[in-house]
Amino acid sequence: MLVDSIDHPKPPNCTQGSVLGPFHTNDAPHLPIGSSITTDDAGEPILALCTVCDSSGRPLSGVKVDVWEADSAGHYDVQYANRQAPSGRCVMTSDVDGGFWFRAIRPVSYPVPDDGPVGRLLGLLKRHSSRPAHMHFMFEKQGLDRLVTTLFIRGDKYETSDVVFGVKSSLVVDLDRIDKKTAVEYGVPEGTLLLRHKFVLASARETEELRDKNAMEAMERLGLKTKLVDHLPVPDLD
Ligand SMILES: [Fe+2]
Repeated sequence: MLVDSIDHPKPPNCTQGSVLGPFHTNDAPHLPIGSSITTDDAGEPILALCTVCDSSGRPLSGVKVDVWEADSAGHYDVQYANRQAPSGRCVMTSDVDGGFWFRAIRPVSYPVPDDGPVGRLLGLLKRHSSRPAHMHFMFEKQGLDRLVTTLFIRGDKYETSDVVFGVKSSLVVDLDRIDKKTAVEYGVPEGTLLLRHKFVLASARETEELRDKNAMEAMERLGLKTKLVDHLPVPDLD
């Protein structure tokens, strides 16, 4: 989280980032907008209606969007030894209005694997090993700073104690229920859970300028006279 905050600072109105985590894969199917990303019948259905725009509010079309989530048992597909095909994940491309939508299941909280050194460390720190319910997103397009983020469902009992410190208040979202009109429009039952979110992406240039500015300010606070060379602060000896 700290490295991400330093490397990908966001202008104030942009969507904050969060950790990529170990469960993203590169084999997710590219699905048309409106698809279901899950094969888990035990999960509670949810409809996600999302848009993506730049920091000026202009819709961004053609953005590659990765989405991934755990199943209703709290496991990602890659945690099953008999995984046959990707599930609970997809890649979509935002449409001309910057929109993308999909069907999924309501995320649940889950423990990170704690049968190795991480588990022992958490034990020594007397911390639990759970993450609050969440859904992962990653956005990529030429000219934009890649955004890796997570939306957390408000009200989870681990919301303030995420084992990997991934929660930021701006990423905690409320769910709604779909009204009759929206249900007809999207072909889902009335009352289905609804996740509606607008993602705001910083450009690569905005991020680079902010990173440079933050680096110089940090050096100044340390009382060091530096200059930027290839965006890295180095001692200014000239
Ligand atoms: Fe996760």
